[in-house]
Amino acid sequence: MHNRLTFDGPVILGAGLAGLTAAIEAKRALVLSPTPLATGCSSAWAQGGMAAALAADDTPALHAADTAAAGAGLCDVEAVELLTREGPDAVRALAALGAPFDTKDGDFTLSLEAAHSKARVARVGGDGAGAAIMAAVIAAVRATPAIEIRENARARRLLQDASGRVVGVLAEIDGQLVEILSPTVILATGGVGGLYAVTTTPAEVRGEGLGLAALAGAVIADPEFVQFHPTAIDIGRDPAPLATEALRGEGAILRNTDARAFMADYHPAAELAPRDIVARAIHAERAAGRGAFLDATTAVGAHFPHEFPAVFEACRAGGIDPRREMIPVTPAVHYHMGGVATDLDGRTSLPALYAAGECAATGVHGANRLASNSLLEAVVFGARAGRAAASEHHAPGQPVSLAPMPDLPADVLQILRKAMSRDAGVIRDAAGLTRLLDQIEALESAHGPCPPLIAARLIVAAALTREESRGGHFRADFPATAAPVRTFATLPPGLGSLRESGLQYAAE
Ligand code: SIN
Repeated sequence: MHNRLTFDGPVILGAGLAGLTAAIEAKRALVLSPTPLATGCSSAWAQGGMAAALAADDTPALHAADTAAAGAGLCDVEAVELLTREGPDAVRALAALGAPFDTKDGDFTLSLEAAHSKARVARVGGDGAGAAIMAAVIAAVRATPAIEIRENARARRLLQDASGRVVGVLAEIDGQLVEILSPTVILATGGVGGLYAVTTTPAEVRGEGLGLAALAGAVIADPEFVQFHPTAIDIGRDPAPLATEALRGEGAILRNTDARAFMADYHPAAELAPRDIVARAIHAERAAGRGAFLDATTAVGAHFPHEFPAVFEACRAGGIDPRREMIPVTPAVHYHMGGVATDLDGRTSLPALYAAGECAATGVHGANRLASNSLLEAVVFGARAGRAAASEHHAPGQPVSLAPMPDLPADVLQILRKAMSRDAGVIRDAAGLTRLLDQIEALESAHGPCPPLIAARLIVAAALTREESRGGHFRADFPATAAPVRTFATLPPGLGSLRESGLQYAAE
């Protein structure tokens, strides 16, 4: 028998921007974080900023149109309208909380990023938005005694009663298993970058929430849509440091080893083409042996250290002076558009289970997320999930099953990461995806249903089933775009093969 405690508000798994915003809005919450606050979460690493229609010549409708265009036909229109309508107030609210956004004469300084029709990205200290926003939100959480934080605490399974309702979580806190019963649980566990060999996200982020939710029977939406950031800095570091897209917004140019600017060969918008197109162009140049580099020597030059201090430091640590030298770049996993399917209040298909932030699929991002929409989504939908979850007051029922899900051994994770990057990366095909699915199923047979393996299986099975190319999902064997349908998947009974049971599709 494990230790048991009952908590009278939402238990929130994850302490990134979505999780902590949910806690603030819930007013009373227990937050479980596997790592110390402000570490191990992608929010704190975000360089871009928050996109919102704050400029006089911008509107939520224009922001919504850009979001939908990037999403390549799969965005949920209602979710996009809500996000873009609430965007400006969300940025102002964070500024009021203490996030030191860059301003000039009292107005937000707004940057242009790829696929935005207006300059609308509110930044902090050039490339420090994530860390500064998280610092402000963490201070607010720490100042709220009704919000309890447990660090070194991670979920090992969702607890359910006999009807399937989620009644709490089996957590490992400081190495001890503890059953925490609660009226509601909010998943805010982040994305899947740690499932891939090359990622810009913290290594700890590896689809745990997605896997746990799927194992509990939740509907998962669009898992095949993984976004690759075109310009991770290729200096052999794991995770790979990011060279923010804002550098291209400032005029930095992508060149190959011969110093030839190649982006115009791939898209008329060149450096400001949609992120997936830039990622595939860089992949192609590298695969052809021509290499890919970001040249900011003219566009940014001597201003680099104060305009982009985080990128500057990462380059210098890798022996590169970006004021004078080109930065070697490679595509890297950056964001997961898919996740646990939710409604506009973060409700999943399982009673009492909510999801917010990158682990959720609200439908906002469709097949490809527009740059700098993720912090905004975390705040807008994290707040809604927090309020909705806090409004459920029923006493939790008795859990029926208590065994923790197995852990993935570190050496097996490394095997998985290499295989995912090779076969479920920027360019995919049936042969590679089939080989990868076989490999994942063999690893599951050997090691049990570890949540990261389940998350990987969902990504790969959906990528194999989607015989078209759209947004972040490119199939070399199906390069054309087909009818716009979203993927909705549940694990088959007994966790059997997703290939045999098939995935469900729903027309938008
Ligand atoms: C970047 O700064 O390039 C990343 C922004 C984002 O992914 O939203």
